[in-house]
Amino acid sequence: MKHSPRAARVLAVANQKGGVGKTTTAISLAASLAVLEREVLLVDFDPQGNATSGLGVDKSALFRTSYDWLGGGAAFEEVARSTDLPHLTLAPANRHLVGAEVELVHEERRERRLKEKLDPLRDRYEYILIDCPPSLSLLTVNALVAADGVLVPIQCEYYALEGVSELLTTMERVRESLNPGLGLAGVVATMWDERTNLSRQVLDEIRRHFGAVVFEHVVPRSVRLAEAPSFGKPIHLYDVKSKGAEAYLGIARELLRRDGRRKAASAPGC
Ligand SMILES: Nc1ncnc2c1ncn2[C@@H]1O[C@H](COP(=O)(O)OP(=O)(O)OP(=O)(O)O)[C@@H](O)[C@H]1O
Ligand SMILES: [Mg+2]
Repeated sequence: MKHSPRAARVLAVANQKGGVGKTTTAISLAASLAVLEREVLLVDFDPQGNATSGLGVDKSALFRTSYDWLGGGAAFEEVARSTDLPHLTLAPANRHLVGAEVELVHEERRERRLKEKLDPLRDRYEYILIDCPPSLSLLTVNALVAADGVLVPIQCEYYALEGVSELLTTMERVRESLNPGLGLAGVVATMWDERTNLSRQVLDEIRRHFGAVVFEHVVPRSVRLAEAPSFGKPIHLYDVKSKGAEAYLGIARELLRRDGRRKAASAPGC
């Protein structure tokens, strides 16, 4: 494995609202960064295990998962697996991760467990993305404590901003107590439908509310993006020419620019 000279930037993909595109964003952005030749680790931190199955791994047949790694029952190397994309490594999860929530509750430093596991890996990757569950549970708090920044996917539908203030309040609390460096790394507008006024209005509202932190590239509602997980492939291996693949590549480039990592490697088109 190629070791990056730079310490990884750790980003949590979070929004406690269900079905807004967290996992699609986590997989597609991780894959985009890998396509741009950045060494990436995607941590599935949701007991639903959707990022795991979306990358073609049978989550019911896993011997070791993020749960074992988090609890000290397995080394990272026993859990991590390479994917069909060079540069992209997956730390898979399945429903066993529910157990971690229950067990951690009784422990000291329970919010810091993921951070303690990820910090030693920072010199191996340029980006570490964490796919969070749809809740503000202890798992999500662990991700916020471990992260440098949060990526918030917001669906371009009615009630788009509903619940976002709770996420921002939770981030503020984490910043005050456990992770002063936590920032809002970006807002990803998802499932945008150019044909509807509603989508346009909601996107305007998201931009008014969050300003420049919203990525310029917007993720369209796309059948190809919705289909890709059932084939166990990131969008770039399923349909690289699709609008969804283009959008996530655009977001990856914006992210690299924002992070000042644009020239860190000689990536194609970057
Ligand atoms: N841009 C898109 N166009 C069409 N379908 C999409 C798009 N993004 C996501 N989807 C589909 O919408 C559903 C929800 O997306 P996804 O699983 O990424 O959301 P999530 O926020 O991770 O959900 P959960 O809260 O359950 O973890 C999935 O079926 C996914 O394939
Ligand atoms: Mg998900």
